[in-house]
Amino acid sequence: MTDSHTIQKEEQTPQSKGNEKKRMLSGIQPSGDLHLGNYLGAIKNWADRAEEYECYYFMADMHTITVRQEPAELRRRSLHQLAQYIACGLDPEKNVLFLQSHVPAHAQLSWVLNCYTMFGELSRMTQFKDKSSKYKDNINAGLFTYPVLMAADILLYQPDYVPVGDDQKQHVELTRDIAQRFNSIYGEVFTVPEPFISKSGARIYGLSSPTDKMSKSDPGGCVFIMDEPDVIMKKFKRAVTDSDTDNPVRYDRENKPGVANLMNIYSTLTGKSYEEIEQEFAGKGYGVFKPAVAETVIDTLKPVREEAERLMKDKEYLNRVYKDGAERAAYVANKTLRKVYKKVGFYQI
Ligand code: TYM
Repeated sequence: MTDSHTIQKEEQTPQSKGNEKKRMLSGIQPSGDLHLGNYLGAIKNWADRAEEYECYYFMADMHTITVRQEPAELRRRSLHQLAQYIACGLDPEKNVLFLQSHVPAHAQLSWVLNCYTMFGELSRMTQFKDKSSKYKDNINAGLFTYPVLMAADILLYQPDYVPVGDDQKQHVELTRDIAQRFNSIYGEVFTVPEPFISKSGARIYGLSSPTDKMSKSDPGGCVFIMDEPDVIMKKFKRAVTDSDTDNPVRYDRENKPGVANLMNIYSTLTGKSYEEIEQEFAGKGYGVFKPAVAETVIDTLKPVREEAERLMKDKEYLNRVYKDGAERAAYVANKTLRKVYKKVGFYQI
């Protein structure tokens, strides 16, 4: 782990893995097509880790039904998201890639953990507050207990790190609380994981509303991994900035949120600091800056889109990856589940 990442330091993990590699785990809901926020906030930090860590990445399809989904679309996206994971550099030989609903242990552990999570804790989750005000006609129990399923997703695999964007930090913190509570009653059952949040890219804002996080619910301001280059260029050219004309490319999050967001995207992709970017565009206007950011994004996403398109045509291969991933994931997950069942007193035969 490098200094450019925020890791909440914790005590030693209870389950020593000896000389084994440390573990990483994360997931994304296939509730929409993957976007630049998912890429920069999460996936970019997952790729190229397989040599150092044992990595588990999944599609959180069970989480998506907390909001109504079109079944055929959910099925399509669940398969296509796997193609996109692989195209982003996640080699299925080196990473365990799987679909959440293929591993029943997620739902099984979730029930147990429900009984070790407090109503008050779940009431404080900002994602629940946001979603229940957005979907007023469907405030279902799943929306409320969503973080418990997420805790089960994580704790089943005993990961050391959970690489996520900033908006998921609260859920990972709750997971830690649940793990610590369970361990304090039953002994060292769960590894207490640490959120792994990149300093840059952890929160990408929408291009048309740069004070809201980039999300698929605002397609005009959201750049999708599968967008064609001309679409990406158009979205960036239309990005909301400000009417500054005198050296406008300056980092000022509070007063120039649109520019700060574009600078963050550019910095995350090029590795350049904000000072370097200010120097590069000194005396130049948005007419030069916006297309330059767009070009960098296009250069990054074009090969990903092309490879994903190729893989999407090979359903047989994707099915094989899913089958293999589910087996490897279930092996680890069931081991934890058996231990939990034993600890809480479920009779075993
Ligand atoms: P989800 O599907 O909303 O987002 C997936 C990942 O993308 C990150 N992300 C962003 N990062 C930066 N800027 C943005 N605008 C942006 N939008 C999304 C998210 O932080 C996340 O890392 N509950 C999770 C899915 C999940 C999960 C898990 C994650 C279920 N179980 C276990 C980790 C571990 C979610 O809804 O993420």
